[in-house]
Amino acid sequence: MRISQAKAIELLQDGEVVAIPTETVYGLAANARNEAAIAKIYATKQRPANNPLIVHIADAAQVTEWASAFPPLAQRLAQAFWPGPFTLVFPAREEVSAAVRAGEPTVALRVPAHPVALALLKNSGLGLAAPSANKYTQLSPTTAAHVEAGLGAEIPVLDGGACQVGIESTIVSVHGDEWQLLRLGMIDASNIAAIAGKPAMQQAVAHTPKAPGQHLLHYSPRTPCLLFASRQAMLQDARNKAEAAALLFGAGPSVTGKDLTLPDNAALAAEQLYSALHTLDAAQANIILIESPPLGAGWDALRDRLQRAAYAPDPQKD
Ligand code: TXA
Ligand code: MG
Repeated sequence: MRISQAKAIELLQDGEVVAIPTETVYGLAANARNEAAIAKIYATKQRPANNPLIVHIADAAQVTEWASAFPPLAQRLAQAFWPGPFTLVFPAREEVSAAVRAGEPTVALRVPAHPVALALLKNSGLGLAAPSANKYTQLSPTTAAHVEAGLGAEIPVLDGGACQVGIESTIVSVHGDEWQLLRLGMIDASNIAAIAGKPAMQQAVAHTPKAPGQHLLHYSPRTPCLLFASRQAMLQDARNKAEAAALLFGAGPSVTGKDLTLPDNAALAAEQLYSALHTLDAAQANIILIESPPLGAGWDALRDRLQRAAYAPDPQKD
């Protein structure tokens, strides 16, 4: 159900959930200070309660309303990448709801770069907890129609058009003057190192914060997916797969009758990735064959998402 910004503010202030656009993916938002509203997010997504949420704020000046410290390195990163597809994990103020942070001592904050989201944050005066607006482990939505297809037509959606970044934000935690990458995104390690003045810390901290975006079976279409190292390998394997569909990158021979080709440019490919997977998932194929994206700078986050989408549990081990 598409709603206006005024209606979205009214619902959020009443403790309801609303799907909202961001530049990465659509989020399922609720007032981050309202425990009952947070519970509705977990229930709607069927998400385990040990999986913390990102709180979206209007600007960096609001960080200290949620975080007990805003260290200099985090300030520099916030200055460089906010508003934008970038999430920072902070030590949480005591009063931040345990439901939002899933019992962690930390809270994840992001200033999104979508004008509709920013207007909503500014005009509502709320901090909005918002995980991606999909059921747990399923594909993230990048249009209002994806949200409705995944969560049902009754879900209130603020339609802000198609998301321009297309995959979830980069997540970073800061420890003194060291930093750690918790989830890959389109702001990559080299972008962060350029601001931090050093690469990510070698040794993960003893208590690795949960970033269950690291859950292997994540970002998955319902149709099984198989990842191939090259187009050549796909062609050799795919010959008898008349019922298959394929996701390809850049020019080259076709593989199935249901090929979908993404541009040979990481930013454009990311923008279109989830839409392509949603389309292929609806194509009545029995399997989605996926070509590995090109090697090289800019493609790491895409490769990460595709590896997770194509994760096949080993029956011997799981
Ligand atoms: O781009 C995005 O980040 C989108 C849009 C809606 O903002 N949101 C999103 O939310 O991807 P979600 O819930 O699907 O993923 C949030 C990730 C999870 O992997 C979660 O574990 C991690 O953020 N996270 C949240 N709070 C955390 C914390 N305190 N420490 C470490 N990781 C945290
Ligand atoms: Mg998600």
